[in-house]
Amino acid sequence: MARVLVTRALPGSALDRLVAAGHEVDVWPDQLPPGPDELRARAAGCEALLTMLSDRIDAPLIGSLPELKVVANYAVGYDNIDLDACRERGVVVTNTPDVLTDATADLTMALLLAAARRLPEAEASVYAGDWRTWEPAGFLGVDLNGSTLVLYGGRGRIAQAVARRAEAFGMRVVTVGRGDDLTAAVADADFISLHAPLTDQTRHVIDAELLSAVKPGAILVNTARGQLVDQVALRAALIDGTLSGAALDVTDPEPLPPADPLLQAPNLIVLPHIGSAGKDTRARMAEICVDNILAALSGEPVPSNLA
Ligand code: DGY
Repeated sequence: MARVLVTRALPGSALDRLVAAGHEVDVWPDQLPPGPDELRARAAGCEALLTMLSDRIDAPLIGSLPELKVVANYAVGYDNIDLDACRERGVVVTNTPDVLTDATADLTMALLLAAARRLPEAEASVYAGDWRTWEPAGFLGVDLNGSTLVLYGGRGRIAQAVARRAEAFGMRVVTVGRGDDLTAAVADADFISLHAPLTDQTRHVIDAELLSAVKPGAILVNTARGQLVDQVALRAALIDGTLSGAALDVTDPEPLPPADPLLQAPNLIVLPHIGSAGKDTRARMAEICVDNILAALSGEPVPSNLA
């Protein structure tokens, strides 16, 4: 029977199935993830790793684990894993596609609405005692109905789920694939929402040059990966009004230190990467990881094999 390291306690009871199958399950006990040395030490002798997007699974780590057969990532994104190094060693890598599509699309719309209608600012005014009367021109925001939303990475599952929601709000949706001309598309966009995976091609796709082409006053939403955005350029665009707002569930780095200059920018909403954080979604993600590990360890076809 195999030794399985799970790098964080997970919601739900999925891990019970690993134990029932006779595997030895070691769950990292801390709230913070293991550091690289701790991960390497704890993973020694493991045939399976159930990892988070905050664990770096790189070539040196994989090289130090000769028994390793499968890495099941508790996320749809897998930019934290050196896929080539795993392939070279014959280690199966899996993710959790589909299951978190709706939760992430819901959060995208929540961020988009919060930024469009200035919810954090409006709420803060109530707590600060600034709500003196109903004001005809108080907290004017952007109407969603009739506005244009550009979805970058627009052919992916999450972007398509956002498109369905946005259309129900009366928005015009323009999907931009990774090979398409984003610069041309953003010239007409009231909202730009990012849904591409992090790759060498998508890193800093939102940079100063791209931002110089946006429709003045556009709002940027990012629920994909922080490194899609050059945060120095984003901060400048918020300060000079090129963007009227930005709403981020992901940042570079994560967590974003409280002293990061980006957090001083106006009209910015930042969440601590909670896109998939629905109770059922997170429990189901654990089930999918366990399905993948059980299949890989018993030599059966692996449902979410990224090979
Ligand atoms: C993912 O699954 O890649 C998400 O970013 C996690 O919320």
